[in-house]
Amino acid sequence: MTEIQINGRTAFYGIIGNPIAHSFSPAMQTAALQSVGENAVYLPFQPEESQLESFLKSFDLIGLKGFNVTVPYKEKIIPFLQEISEEAKLLGSVNTVVKTANGWKGYTTDGAGLVQSLVEQIKDIKGKNFLLLGAGGAAKAIALELVKAGAESLTINNRTQEKANELKKIIEAYRPGFCISINPATPEKYDCMINCTSVGMKDDSIPTNESFISASKFIVDIIYNPAETALLKKAKELGIPTANGIGMLLYQGVKAFKIWTDKKAPVQLMERELLASLKKNKA
Ligand code: ATR
Repeated sequence: MTEIQINGRTAFYGIIGNPIAHSFSPAMQTAALQSVGENAVYLPFQPEESQLESFLKSFDLIGLKGFNVTVPYKEKIIPFLQEISEEAKLLGSVNTVVKTANGWKGYTTDGAGLVQSLVEQIKDIKGKNFLLLGAGGAAKAIALELVKAGAESLTINNRTQEKANELKKIIEAYRPGFCISINPATPEKYDCMINCTSVGMKDDSIPTNESFISASKFIVDIIYNPAETALLKKAKELGIPTANGIGMLLYQGVKAFKIWTDKKAPVQLMERELLASLKKNKA
């Protein structure tokens, strides 16, 4: 564990969300900042929606250098920022904000975080066929990054067809002619399935049926708590390799760290902190 130094010059970063008490980011980011010699800490904040603007003004006053944004404020924060990245604009979602000379600038690192963790697991994204379960904020961010990373095709399975169509439109606007299909009745073959729904977080439901699971060579669930959802258990029973959402959580944080400090993040230390938090959370 990194020993935390606090003195008269300690700077700070933070995270806003509601609820926020469950977040693993304060422990992970504070350890990371201190381990690379940044005299800084990272703290949780839980504003009400009506307080978002005044929170940002307070952050200005107290000199906060940057912060993460989590549920339910990833979209609602945007009107209060002076600038946002191209990806954040396309997705209408921000999870990382940094103070620049022009004011607050928002980025989205969730999708890129998932894709970077996936590269460790399946090596190349280029030329591969992906099946995404879900069409909400997380699915959109992941879909966009998969396209940017050279995926061959995307299939979107979502309970609400209209939301899947919205995702399709975003991707087609970004990459005209990209091969994307929605809610097929029967599966094709997929190099990787990614569960981007919240199904499996609270109970043992599985967000798809066995024919789609069997059609996938690798299965990722972006849920990290529980560490093994019913979907991942089923995949293991069928002999399909899997990964949970710890990698996405880790690398979205790694990318945020780089945006704030312009330093290379201590990835292994951050991963250890995350796993330790998860273990404590269960105890
Ligand atoms: P996030 O930002 O985490 O992606 P979200 O935008 O609320 O959250 O998206 C949640 C996703 O989980 C959606 O795709 C949602 O499906 P709908 O578009 O049909 O709402 C999906 N989801 C949530 N609960 C579900 C359930 N019980 N069965 C199937 N899909 C579900």
